[in-house]
Order: sequence, then C-alpha cells, then structure tokens
Amino acid sequence: MENVFQSRNKAKPAVYHLRDVVRDRASEGVTFRLRVPSLQIHQGEKIALIGESGCGKSTLLDMLAFISRPSDFAAFRFRPEIEDEAIDVAELWKKKKQNALGDLRKAHIGYVMQTGGLLPYLSVRENMSLSRSVLSMPADDTVETLARHLGIARHLDKLPETLSVGERQRVAIGRALAHEPSIVIADEPTASVDPFAAEKIMSLFIELAEERNITVVVASHAWRHIKRLGLRRLAHHTHRSKDGSTTETVVNG
Ligand SMILES: Nc1ncnc2c1ncn2[C@@H]1O[C@H](COP(=O)(O)OP(=O)(O)OP(=O)(O)O)[C@@H](O)[C@H]1O
Ligand SMILES: [Mg+2]
Repeated sequence: MENVFQSRNKAKPAVYHLRDVVRDRASEGVTFRLRVPSLQIHQGEKIALIGESGCGKSTLLDMLAFISRPSDFAAFRFRPEIEDEAIDVAELWKKKKQNALGDLRKAHIGYVMQTGGLLPYLSVRENMSLSRSVLSMPADDTVETLARHLGIARHLDKLPETLSVGERQRVAIGRALAHEPSIVIADEPTASVDPFAAEKIMSLFIELAEERNITVVVASHAWRHIKRLGLRRLAHHTHRSKDGSTTETVVNG
C-alpha cells in the first residue's frame, strides 16, 4: 500500500521543484550558506520548517516567494496551478525578470511576514483588501468572512496600532489569504504571542488553508504545537565552523 501511495505522490506534479539551489549571505566576515539539494512541495501540502534563530528559515521562504534571488541553482520550477505548465523560475532569475516574478507572487502567493508588515495608516479592512485591489478583484464579502473566521471582525475599521499583537497577527494571516492564493508562505506567524495563543492562531490558519486546499509553508521555532496539526517537517542540518565564521544549513525534502 505504501509503495502505491508513494508512487502516486511522486507522479503528482510539484508546486515547487528545487534542485541544488544555494543562497549565500555575508556580513562583516561572517558567511552563511543555505543549500537545498532537493525540495519538492506538492499541491495542498502543509510544510513546516522548524529551527533555531539564524538557521536560514527566512532565507528559504524569501526564495520560495521570489523575494530574494538564489546565488546558484540547477533547477527552480514553480507550478501554482496543477493544470498549468511549470514555470522556469531559474530562467526568470537568469534573465532578471523581476517584474514577472513579482506578478507571479502577487497572483499566486500570500505571505505572512515575520514582522507582520501591516501598513499603519490603513485600517484593518484596507490592509486585508490590498492584495485583492492590486489584482483588481471584486470587492465582495471575502475579507469580512475571513475576519469573522479569524475573530477580528469587530476590528475591521480600526488602525492596526490599536490592536493587540495577537490580533495583528490574525490580520496578517487574513491579508495573506484574502486574494485567494494557491500558496501561503508564513514566516513565524505566531512569534510574538504566548504559546496558548500561538497554538490557537496556528490551528485557525491551518484550518482556513485546509478548507481552501492551499499549499502552506510555515517557518517557526516551535515544533510542539505545529506537530499536532499534522504538518510535514522539512529535514535540515546546520553546521557551524569552530571559529563561528561560517554557517551552512542544508535543507532537503
Ligand atoms: N541582510 C542580511 N545580510 C547578510 N546576512 C544576513 C542577512 N540576513 C540574514 N543574514 C544571515 O543569514 C543567516 C540566516 O538568516 P535568516 O534570517 O534566514 O534566519 P532565520 O532562521 O529566519 O532566523 P530567525 O528565527 O531569527 O528569524 C543568519 O545567520 C544571518 O547571519
Ligand atoms: Mg526569520
């Protein structure tokens, strides 16, 4: 049975297909390298990248969202809709097609930023509607429905600064879902709240993604509350040189 399932899963085209992707970062004599020998993420999968601070979680997520360019790559393909052909992201990077990559991100990816990233001068409703208006999507009740599910409906007309940190994180999640993307990338979406609130927000997030068959990649320090939600954990190893001048993280999955 297991073999049948595995071969079926392999036959299914991947949303992300990465091979030998590398991202180098250096500052003040300290170098960091993220290496991804092989990574396949399938449609509807819920993936968790768990690791200590500085191991390269945001670095990987930023590449998956086409925000930062890999330093080197053998293959990087993206297939947001199963019925479409895979897009050769490596080729777009090579040809410096940043606008095309930006358009792909806007249309298919929702991003929950580590720092929240809400615009302080826009109301909660306007923050959540932004991605829809950028794509000229109709102003229907999507934002209200999401806000209700996330328990923030009564805050829709307030400014983010008048909300608690946990409420703001819910807004950030709602904003990433509002334009109905097929992929949501979430960088520590519950970093600044207590473990009880974090578990509640994370399970709400996964539940909403599950209902919409969204592919999810989430980075977090804490595996404990994510494990219970049935996410697939990406394997990674971090090696530091003795003098601390170089760090390399290898991610496979
Ligand atoms: N702008 C930058 N310039 C140079 N090096 C950077 C930069 N941002 C991060 N790095 C280096 O890359 C490494 C990985 O950083 P990254 O932000 O991906 O870690 P992380 O796992 O997301 O950490 P955290 O849990 O603290 O968010 C760090 O060790 C850091 O030294
Ligand atoms: Mg980070």
